[in-house]
Amino acid sequence: MALRTILTDGDPALHKACRPVTNFDQRLHDLLDDLKETLANANGAGLAAPQVGILRRAVVVVDAEDNMLELVNPEIISQEGEQEGFEGCLSVPGRWGVVKRPMKVRVRAQDRDGNFFEAEGEEIVARCFCHEIEHLDGHLFTEHTDRLYTTEELDQMMEEQGE
Ligand code: NI
Repeated sequence: MALRTILTDGDPALHKACRPVTNFDQRLHDLLDDLKETLANANGAGLAAPQVGILRRAVVVVDAEDNMLELVNPEIISQEGEQEGFEGCLSVPGRWGVVKRPMKVRVRAQDRDGNFFEAEGEEIVARCFCHEIEHLDGHLFTEHTDRLYTTEELDQMMEEQGE
């Protein structure tokens, strides 16, 4: 396992559509292990392969039980409701925006050995599924918001909300 470098906005790899994974081999397993290690190290909620420069459809997402889910060739198969909240991205460090997402999503994906499975996410996890899967088509959350806030501004707003 190894830490990989997380690319930041402006890198062309973040704006390209990724190809499906077709080989469920050691190389994929190494990629998924590295994504998990890199995500844990960055203390993030999700990470997509293109964020480390690999243009393949694979993501890892932290679920409601704090486990890291590996999703290969993931697709959203249903969604319900709506939520609006702050969102950030390891590829857009120090910037936050208000983004509307479904409240609940159901995803179909393959595991590291190619077996299909379905997973469901609500609230933050639903947000994360949508955000990571979008990365696979070259999209960033910044496309869904007119205004980006700095971490300082975000902290200040959270503080004010808490009062
Ligand atoms: Ni992201």
